[in-house]
Amino acid sequence: MLHLHSHSRQQWLLQVDQFLPEVLIDHAHCERKAASTAMSLMNAYVVNRALARAMTVIVQEELEHYELVLQLLERRHIKFCLQKPSAYGKQLHALIRQAEPQRVVDRLLVASLIEARSCERFDLLSKHVRQSDPELADFYASLFESEARHHTTYVALAEDYAPRSEVRLRLKELAEAEANILENDQPVVRMHS
Ligand SMILES: [Fe+2]
Ligand SMILES: [Fe+2]
Repeated sequence: MLHLHSHSRQQWLLQVDQFLPEVLIDHAHCERKAASTAMSLMNAYVVNRALARAMTVIVQEELEHYELVLQLLERRHIKFCLQKPSAYGKQLHALIRQAEPQRVVDRLLVASLIEARSCERFDLLSKHVRQSDPELADFYASLFESEARHHTTYVALAEDYAPRSEVRLRLKELAEAEANILENDQPVVRMHS
């Protein structure tokens, strides 16, 4: 369903145990950036009514998630701050082709894969901390469904711009690249590292 080409490594979960506050701060930034991505797609393809409608919903949901993560940080007395992001987003965005309509297809598919990876990791995290931190487990379980829906929405919108078979092929290529990006060790522990 999520079209990912790899499972997250156990190593990532172990690192999260060690650096949980940093990962939670990064998660807040991810939600903010997800809202910004949806807004920028809406602005770039303003005449696509279906896209505008879908992006309106996603912007609102991501901003709600952003606020929820910020509240979680406050409850835990974790100071929200600027942070060096992992190279993941930058490396994925570098794969976007420049000419239209390939560009819009890639932008939508890259967004769909980021949503899919978030979704996979929220599920892993939720299960991992179920006993030790039920509040966090419930929080991540509650976000899973909407991020899965965002993934599906982005893939469906890409099919407005290219035949389904082409979209699926490109999704497969980008998913392979996404898995490779995560294979390489990142110097920082993040939601996507
Ligand atoms: Fe979100
Ligand atoms: Fe999302």
